[in-house]
Amino acid sequence: MQFGHFDDDAREYVVTTPLTPYPWINYLGSERFFSLLSHLGGGYSFYRDAKMRRLTRYRYNNIPTDEGGRYLFVHDAGDVWTPTWQPVRAELDHFEARHGLGYSTITGERGGLRVATTFLVPLGEDAEVQKVTVTNVSDAPKRVSLFSFVEFALWNAQDDQTNYQRNLSIGEVEVEEATPSGGSAIYHRTEYRERRNHYAVFGVNERAAGFDTDRETFLGGPFASFADAAVPRSGASANSVASGWYPIGSHSVDLELAPGESHELVYVLGYLENDVEHKWADEAHQVVNKEGAHALLARFATPAAFDAAHEALREHWNGLLATYTVSSSDEKLDRMVNVWNQYQCMVTFNMSRSASYFETGIGRGMGFRDSNQDLLGFVHLVPERARERIIDIASTQFPDGSAYHQYQPLTKRGNDDIGSGFNDDPMWLVAGVAGYLKETGDYAILDEPVPFDNAPGTEVPLFEHLTRSFDFVVSHLGPHGLPLIGRADWNDCLNLNAFSTEPGESFQTTENKTGGAAESTFIAAQLVLYGADYVALAERRGLTEVAQAARTAVDGVRVALLEHGWDGRWFLRAYDYYGNPVGTGADDEGKIWIEPQGFAVMAGVGVERGEDGSVLPDSRAVLALDSVGEMLGTPHGLVLQSPAYTTYRVELGEVSTYPPGYKENGGIFCHNNPWVIIAETVLGRGERAFDYYRRITPAYREAISDVHRLEPYVYAQMIAGKEAVRAGEAKNSWLTGTAAWNFVAVSQYLLGVRPDYDALVVDPQIGPDVPEFTVRRVLRGATYEVTVRNSGAEGVRARLEVDGVPVEGNRVPYAPAGATVRITATL
Ligand code: GLC
Ligand code: GLC
Repeated sequence: MQFGHFDDDAREYVVTTPLTPYPWINYLGSERFFSLLSHLGGGYSFYRDAKMRRLTRYRYNNIPTDEGGRYLFVHDAGDVWTPTWQPVRAELDHFEARHGLGYSTITGERGGLRVATTFLVPLGEDAEVQKVTVTNVSDAPKRVSLFSFVEFALWNAQDDQTNYQRNLSIGEVEVEEATPSGGSAIYHRTEYRERRNHYAVFGVNERAAGFDTDRETFLGGPFASFADAAVPRSGASANSVASGWYPIGSHSVDLELAPGESHELVYVLGYLENDVEHKWADEAHQVVNKEGAHALLARFATPAAFDAAHEALREHWNGLLATYTVSSSDEKLDRMVNVWNQYQCMVTFNMSRSASYFETGIGRGMGFRDSNQDLLGFVHLVPERARERIIDIASTQFPDGSAYHQYQPLTKRGNDDIGSGFNDDPMWLVAGVAGYLKETGDYAILDEPVPFDNAPGTEVPLFEHLTRSFDFVVSHLGPHGLPLIGRADWNDCLNLNAFSTEPGESFQTTENKTGGAAESTFIAAQLVLYGADYVALAERRGLTEVAQAARTAVDGVRVALLEHGWDGRWFLRAYDYYGNPVGTGADDEGKIWIEPQGFAVMAGVGVERGEDGSVLPDSRAVLALDSVGEMLGTPHGLVLQSPAYTTYRVELGEVSTYPPGYKENGGIFCHNNPWVIIAETVLGRGERAFDYYRRITPAYREAISDVHRLEPYVYAQMIAGKEAVRAGEAKNSWLTGTAAWNFVAVSQYLLGVRPDYDALVVDPQIGPDVPEFTVRRVLRGATYEVTVRNSGAEGVRARLEVDGVPVEGNRVPYAPAGATVRITATL
């Protein structure tokens, strides 16, 4: 069952009913000001930091869900309704929400009046701007009143939801009935009289008939809901001025519309800062200096100004998305690759894991491992910002090569609450830097001075940070020669030293048993994979001995993985504190885990080839991936391990706390499915790889939206696994490493166009269902047009012609900037 459809030409998803299984959201903004916006107008806005600078209030955990947003109440001859359906929920004659790239348009129609609102954050502005188009589609004249509505959060989102004894007395606003640019505005200035130098403005571009800033007055008392809102029902604003309690912003605008007539209005919700010396407009320090707000409102005083901002945003996205495009016979593949997967990668770049409908924006900072992996999905879009991100991340590393697990985006400092000790973190830095270098060729970054733990004076070249990463892992090996796991590896919930029995104790920071020798096969495979990059970079810098020593160390871990990390038909997952294997057929639960199978084969471990180069059918890599298909495969994707744990295993940690089939305990963790997809392409099994891709990719799941429940245009972190009560149901959409890894899998391995250090590799492996396609890739200033004619036969690699000339192998040396290279690949 579907609740809408893709509009590929417009690059929009069109939600056609308010009653989706869950709020389906979009993100506005890509620089400093961001908004979350559901298809019903719900969500909130913040400036840079979702915790510290929250502009508007949103109620997580509320019923009905998705309460709090920007609303426009219509009063049409006594009939009160909201075109976003929420919050009044009056039946609409027509409803449509279009989520596009950085903007959304929500349209509602009732009783012959159509109201369409487009929301966006203009480039270069710290504001959400809305254009409202009101059309009389009846055949009689209409007099209607519109009541806008936003509810201000008192800046610190956490404090706003906890500290009522103070907060209910501090709310302050200013009202400006006539702004210099001809409209009306409300200013939210709570705490401005003391230490805050920022304020918010909510304005409309025409003189309002009235205003309200006190929530209780607007709603009609403490027991009224948004749906009951008294002021819109009365048909006139009450001109209330908030003093403490709950400040809001609302303007009323009265319109007279002839049949067929339209009227456009522009609303602005903005964030402004003043210098301490220029905070006030008066000597007595009572009136906010509003120059910044006035300039902002003046820039959006007309619908034409809004339209120009919208056009600029379109141009911006056209430019970004031109870097990688595919044209094939599979429209779902094309729309994911060309639009939605890349869009989601940009959103994860902007948000990390901070603010979504599953992340409250007051929790985690930026993850060290998460940010490095996210980078793999956006480095081709904004390489210069990826560079900056790498320096920020590396600056939080410790001198011994370990790292803060998280850092705070506002301060860029490591987060002491969670600290260090996740032993996969170091090698993700190598992964991120390697991805950046392959894309850009900017080797100068390796000489960039970067401090440890942000301490001035400790700067060393970035390459030295990679060395510390590598050395940390190879100098922390356990009794089987495999890397020690520490608090966890990629799987945050595999906590082999935690032994936690206290409710509420963090599994990630608790180590009740230390000095243990718990080892991770995942980190072993990770070291082999990215160790090769470290070796390549050392060689390129002329560090022959360093490279040779590193190669030897990597080989040692590879051999240990094959000898001690192998269970007979698949790779083990770990050795626990006591040295017992985890992820073994000898156990009755958690027999096989996905992570080491995908990562080991990606790294080439267990891939044995015959003389003709084909993979031997009894290779460990083949056995491991066959086991994955048999034991982890479901119609909804590959589960993380099987069977899921049914009892708490204190020696394994958080993983066994989830009910079977959810999250890390047998859920379909969409983040690591692409590792298996890539691994299958390594074996030349494109058909399977593409099959796995389609199981989790949202556009292919659109038809079962009633089961999947979340947005059909972006990946979710998790789909409930086979043992779950609600198998096939997704959770945690948008902010997940799934976005980056699936883009890597589909763009670089299924479609097979991937940057290496000195050449573009063309090696498609997608199976027979996509017989012909063209990829257009812009890289280091040159354009590559790759046309693939694909039999889909298993184990066959493409033969290439470059500008009409057959070449050996699958590597195409980089062309100078400005050049266009035409490649045909036949297999
Ligand atoms: C979440 C975390 C990520 C971790 C994964 C598996 O996605 O953000 O860091 O690797 O869960 O536990
Ligand atoms: C990751 C996991 C989640 C766990 C969390 C702890 O996000 O996905 O299951 O609770 O890490 O930090």
